Amino acid sequence: MNSLLEMKHVVVNFFSYGSMVQAVRDVSFTIEEGQTVALVGESGCGKSVTAKSIMGLIKKPGKILEGSQICFDGEDITGYSDKEWQKFRGKECSMIFQDALVSLNPTMKIGKQIIESLDNHAVSLLKEEKKKQAIEMLELTGIADAGSCLQKYPHELSGGMRQRVMIAIALITHPKLLIADEPTTSLDVTIQAQILAQMKQLQKQMNMAILLITHDLGIVADTADKIIVMYAGKIVEEGNARDIFYHPVHPYTKALLGSVPRLDKEGKQELQTIEGSIPDMTHPPEGCAFCGRCPYAMKICQQYMPEEVYISKEHRAACWLMDERAGRRKIYNG
Ligand SMILES: Nc1ncnc2c1ncn2[C@@H]1O[C@H](COP(=O)(O)OP(=O)(O)OP(=O)(O)O)[C@@H](O)[C@H]1O
Ligand SMILES: [Mg+2]
Repeated sequence: MNSLLEMKHVVVNFFSYGSMVQAVRDVSFTIEEGQTVALVGESGCGKSVTAKSIMGLIKKPGKILEGSQICFDGEDITGYSDKEWQKFRGKECSMIFQDALVSLNPTMKIGKQIIESLDNHAVSLLKEEKKKQAIEMLELTGIADAGSCLQKYPHELSGGMRQRVMIAIALITHPKLLIADEPTTSLDVTIQAQILAQMKQLQKQMNMAILLITHDLGIVADTADKIIVMYAGKIVEEGNARDIFYHPVHPYTKALLGSVPRLDKEGKQELQTIEGSIPDMTHPPEGCAFCGRCPYAMKICQQYMPEEVYISKEHRAACWLMDERAGRRKIYNG
């Protein structure tokens, strides 16, 4: 059986000012029906570009290179025409962005914006029926007074409410996959938790898959079936929450974990930040891109790109420390 989404060897470059940014470098992963997959990594590592490639939103000067394959429900979508994308977006796959204020139309009432999302998919319903669906959807996202919310403009709502409206717009067409790109980053921690819980609840009701993008590993621990760690345009490690949180193998994953507050430790905790910064993606290193910041780097790491090694069926990582050919195979608990 096909996976819902299959990304195979996806490469995305941006061509500007005579240089080329290698934003996504040979990324492959799958999402099954109803599954929650988290995509994590520092700013600039290619998370949003990966997401946009699934939605047909890579525009010039960006390009998905030939040889990349993105299959949705068994169909290669990379060659879709504008018309096909229009049909695909919303119906098959919806995306919500970090900043609801930017994504919502400031001059249009909330109700109209939700109903427009339905109209785009030629859902031929009576006006009253559409309104009813809009109210139901808003209520499902946890907005108590949905009827009066329909009459409001985005600026009249709080950040949390706006994000709930975005979720309603994304879900009213019942997509099979919801891509949530840092959906709660601009909100305070309590509201973040509430909105994520609500998303999970809706996911169950609708049997929808979620690709949750975040730079915060902390929020994915109990939401994700699978966690994909990206660094400098590549997947460096993938596994389930247990693999990633308790048995991480890639030094980058470990470094990310070091910057997550521990829930089992009370009081003030010192969070480590990862020293250094991500490489210039116009000239990514020849070997492992994390090598310059890695406390365990060996000579070979500078010279050659590590290949992917499977630790178990679902747990993979690309690191020379895991590769017997590197001379000293060593799994450490650093
Ligand atoms: N339109 C564009 N033109 C040129 N370069 C781009 C464009 N969009 C993204 N990039 C580059 O692609 C790389 C990956 O960017 P991306 O937005 O995917 O990062 P990200 O992981 O989502 O980061 P963040 O956590 O900050 O959202 C970056 O180097 C970025 O500068
Ligand atoms: Mg992003």
